[in-house]
Amino acid sequence: MTAIIAVILAVVVFTTLHWGMQPPSSVETIDSTRLQLGGEFSEANLGTSVSPNGAVTVRVLAQQYAFVPKCIVVPADTPVTLRAVSADVVHGFIVQGTNVNTMVVPGYVATLKTRFAQPGDYRMPCHEFCGVGHQGMWAQVRVVPRDQFPFEQAAKEAVNCARR
Ligand code: CUA
Repeated sequence: MTAIIAVILAVVVFTTLHWGMQPPSSVETIDSTRLQLGGEFSEANLGTSVSPNGAVTVRVLAQQYAFVPKCIVVPADTPVTLRAVSADVVHGFIVQGTNVNTMVVPGYVATLKTRFAQPGDYRMPCHEFCGVGHQGMWAQVRVVPRDQFPFEQAAKEAVNCARR
């Protein structure tokens, strides 16, 4: 029994350190019925922003049946914090080839940290059944080389693939 527990613990430690998996930890709540009325997840703030200390944050809104923005742009090989909220029901998303995999539960902010190693376009499908349009709900993550990312503009306003 002790050996089994030791093996399970070892697997948890290994996956945590090796793959950068993050179990849901700090619980952050938000009023999902008032997202459009201003605040962090108002429409103008959705997309990729750079704060004065240089940190890159992507804010995503999930709603039946789309993510906003539809195409997310991020710099390659740069620490990125993803913050996602739902305006209606439970959604989720995954980005293949990365540790990005989370549920988005109304009432809570889903936060995770990642780093996209290689430039390219990555699909970000919703992976929680959220209604009849679930299969068509997905976004795109466009990872661009650091020198092509508009850091200056993103320090002033949130950018996406169309607005940069
Ligand atoms: Cu949103 Cu499935």
